[in-house]
Amino acid sequence: MRYAHIVGWGSYLPEQVLTNHDLAQMVDTTDEWILSRTGIRERRLAGEKETVTTMAFNAAARALAVADMHPARLDMIIVATSTSEHAFPSTASLVQDALGATRAGAFDLSAACSGFVYALSLAANAIKSDAIDTAVVIGTETLSRVVDWQDRATCILFGDGAGALVLKGSDVPGGVLASTLRSDGSGGDLLSLHNTQISSVPFIGTSYVNGHGPYIHMNGRQVFRFATSVVADAIEEVIKKAGLQLKDISLIVPHQANVRIIDHVAKKLKLPPEKFYLNLERYGNTSAASIPIALCEAVQEGRLHPDDTLVFVGFGGGLTWGAVVVKWDVTPPDVSAVKQRLRQARYVAMRLRSRARRLLRRFMAWVGGSPTPKARLKDADRRLEEGGEKR
Ligand code: COA
Repeated sequence: MRYAHIVGWGSYLPEQVLTNHDLAQMVDTTDEWILSRTGIRERRLAGEKETVTTMAFNAAARALAVADMHPARLDMIIVATSTSEHAFPSTASLVQDALGATRAGAFDLSAACSGFVYALSLAANAIKSDAIDTAVVIGTETLSRVVDWQDRATCILFGDGAGALVLKGSDVPGGVLASTLRSDGSGGDLLSLHNTQISSVPFIGTSYVNGHGPYIHMNGRQVFRFATSVVADAIEEVIKKAGLQLKDISLIVPHQANVRIIDHVAKKLKLPPEKFYLNLERYGNTSAASIPIALCEAVQEGRLHPDDTLVFVGFGGGLTWGAVVVKWDVTPPDVSAVKQRLRQARYVAMRLRSRARRLLRRFMAWVGGSPTPKARLKDADRRLEEGGEKR
């Protein structure tokens, strides 16, 4: 029997803070309204140079440092995100390159705010089936770039950030014990982000404002109703799958969407609110990144102890939801400062390696007579001028 253990964790949060008071200067809202309806006080916004890829890389590098694992030992990288910069290359492939994870397969996963739970479940099952031995799963989002900052019903909710976990196979029982993944696409229109370039016909009509967008579209009340109707059941279902009972669970780390949703779930399960770890007050809803970011803070605050049993539960667009039960049985190794510095130096070397490979590819193409990207553009412009042909 193989087991998938969590051996590393890391998060990255941009420095720029946007408070409810700042938002009250931008739209017709108040700190009191946002706090009482959502539990959020402030959120982080990615700076100009921060992207889903840079944030994911930083979170993964930190997680690998905790695990004391060389990136070249990684077999798989899964990135859960709804805000990937490209349809392809995947964010995961760019992170693989930046880490120098030269033996890893890499792909993105789209399950909105449930994405991290989906990614964790897939990676753990791949390890348990002995198909792979190590994986890093990442949730990363720049939601600030896809919200309509004039829509007070959505812009108050979301924030940016990334979180990552490293998984490793072992014969020792424990780690990820069970998972449950669900979807109900009939509710897809309740929470959506249209992809303009793929389809000119929006799924629903309201994600554009004055020709700008697409932006996140949400029916807040319906999403609230959906979340409060599925989350408690998902927790009970996954605990049962793991052969455990609610009383065996030490801490639940839910997707950080709204404190009222979590209060509702706690009441339904007859659990005290302290059983749920919440940090949405500081970061808002960071979608696929929220669970690993929360887990990292729970570790920092000393909320997790060896042999604790945890539940991660996610829910969101799709509609999707899912939960995972984990035995927390890790004692991170002590990694020397010198080793950490060497690790950083290796990432710089990996950046240079990547650049050198790109240059070499271009050079080989030039030697072989292929036109350069610049020459291709020039040629397209010439054809445009000559025949009105589209680039
Ligand atoms: N500030 C002040 N008033 C606001 C507001 C804001 N930021 N946003 C909406 N309102 C107003 C509405 O315009 C409405 O006014 P009206 O009664 O004059 O029409 C009133 O508040 C109530 O709106 P409603 O949408 O019914 O509020 P709500 O109590 O449902 O709270 C949400 C709105 C978004 C906070 C809540 O529905 C929610 O959290 N839903 C779940 C969203 C979520 O978690 N999404 C992600 C899931 S992964």
